[in-house]
Amino acid sequence: MSLLVHDIGELITNDPGLGTRTDAAIVLDGGVVAWVGPSASAPAADEALDAEGAAVLPGFVDSHAHLVFAGDRSAEFAARMAGAPYTGGGIRTTVAATRAASDAELRARTARLVREALAQGTTTVEIKSGYGLTVADEVRSLRIAGEFTAETTFLGAHVVPADVDADAYTALVCGEMMAAAAPHARWVDVFCETGAFDATRTEAILRAGIAHGLGLRVHANQLGPGPGVRLAVEFGAASADHCTHLSAADVDALSTSDTVATLLPGAEFSTRSPYPDGRRLLDAGVTVALATDCNPGSSFTTSVPLCIALAVRECGLTPTEAVVAATLGGATALRRTDVGRLGVGARADLVVLDAPSHLYLAYRPGVPLVGTVVRNGEIEWKR
Ligand code: NIG
Ligand code: FE
Repeated sequence: MSLLVHDIGELITNDPGLGTRTDAAIVLDGGVVAWVGPSASAPAADEALDAEGAAVLPGFVDSHAHLVFAGDRSAEFAARMAGAPYTGGGIRTTVAATRAASDAELRARTARLVREALAQGTTTVEIKSGYGLTVADEVRSLRIAGEFTAETTFLGAHVVPADVDADAYTALVCGEMMAAAAPHARWVDVFCETGAFDATRTEAILRAGIAHGLGLRVHANQLGPGPGVRLAVEFGAASADHCTHLSAADVDALSTSDTVATLLPGAEFSTRSPYPDGRRLLDAGVTVALATDCNPGSSFTTSVPLCIALAVRECGLTPTEAVVAATLGGATALRRTDVGRLGVGARADLVVLDAPSHLYLAYRPGVPLVGTVVRNGEIEWKR
């Protein structure tokens, strides 16, 4: 079944040959983009969708999310807003609730969040484990994540569980847990941070990930300066995420690497922390992605539009750079060339905004501007 979207006021393709087009149309066929051109000369299709002059852009690629969990940490958020610091210690609260939840409950909660994200324009989402922290609970989280996305990430190295020795736990993550998790994961991630995993343990986990054929991602330099970004670059990780506290050497390393710097300003918003300097990264030539980090502790939002607005207001990105970071940037962070762009042959994932241009995503913060979401060529959500 083919679908023609016509009378597009502004079409963001992220395709070097097509650029941004006005008065455009796009034909989706067989789950991919089949044609892009002027609306006036669009070919016929089985179905038509009139964009009525609105902006159309690639579906958002949320390359960093923790969606498989149970429990409630709203009181922890309220305490932070009253002055308590964020340390990551609350992760263990979610681990206890997640272990206690049934498969059905975890599946239903994940489904609700994925649907919530879709309604805000997210057509590709990465989902991490990391709230199980036993072999069985990590595998269970990854199995459930895999029901919703191909971009599953093993984050057994989220935090050392209470009453467990850090070296013994790292050995478990690298050994039995990694072996059991790897068949269900595309990626491995490590929370490299004081209080979580230090440089030596991070290296061991990344090495084990490589041995199991997993791609690498690192939670790096979130709460303070540290070795995360350096290690991500040295190991050729696809992405170093957070990048809030960077040295000049970290920025240099990123700028001469293929490692994407993924900004997660929802976390700084929800932990009342200083935001990462996205301008500095872009000016240095670093590829930047923008993602939600949706999780119950540091950033309980599935809204990429909110993150776009924050990245513009707080991280120094222009509105256009922020939209590119949330589409093409996210795709690059996941090493995907089929999403995040709308060239011919790309996956037929797009968003029709209730607005004439992409600038409105930052210009009208908090306003639901996602009108229609098409995924794999099908209209999956409509306001
Ligand atoms: O990316 N930093 C580590 N993990 C999450 C927070 C997890 C939590 O607080 O539950 C993050 O911010
Ligand atoms: Fe995270």
